[in-house]
Amino acid sequence: MNQAQNQARFRHFGEASHDEWALIDDHFRDYVADAPQRVLAHLHRLSGDTHGYPVDRYEHSLQTATRALRDGADEEMVVCALLHDIGDDLAPANHAEIAAGILEPFIDPLNAWMIRHHELFQGYHYRHFFGLDPHAREQFRDHPAYARTVRFCDDWDQASFDPDYDTLPLEHFVPMVERVLSRDPFGGLPAVSEKKEAP
Ligand SMILES: [Fe+2]
Repeated sequence: MNQAQNQARFRHFGEASHDEWALIDDHFRDYVADAPQRVLAHLHRLSGDTHGYPVDRYEHSLQTATRALRDGADEEMVVCALLHDIGDDLAPANHAEIAAGILEPFIDPLNAWMIRHHELFQGYHYRHFFGLDPHAREQFRDHPAYARTVRFCDDWDQASFDPDYDTLPLEHFVPMVERVLSRDPFGGLPAVSEKKEAP
């Protein structure tokens, strides 16, 4: 191992030693711990271009979270509201999947389902303008996350395009994002086992 560079030297995994995997695991845990800051930094990329909407996606995200908070939503739901559109710039044709992927390791599976399906549910408010069925979300009426997804879209998401609304700044939500994204992903990452002495 090259201690000076603090990195492994193998050329393929077949050469990797236990110490090298332990080193990589240490780096990975630091990287995971810093993920909330990278997510928050990425959220800023939604500011600027409004794409024709009354507010840009950054303002919309803050406003959605503010409305959820003021309606008494729990912290996890407020974080979902803040980050639900974070994939807009990377995957404009599939943005809900990005937000769901980021949040899924840390949240209730029903909330991950809600994020993943929010675009279709939100479409209740506009799909008819595109010649599409606004009631398409009814196919999920019996799903356990149906009611929360309807509430998320109807009360907070579709309502959050008001440039005159008293929207809270990002700083208000930073500790919430840090707490939710600092939970053990999927209940805990596998760790490199203790080094065993050679028999
Ligand atoms: Fe949205």
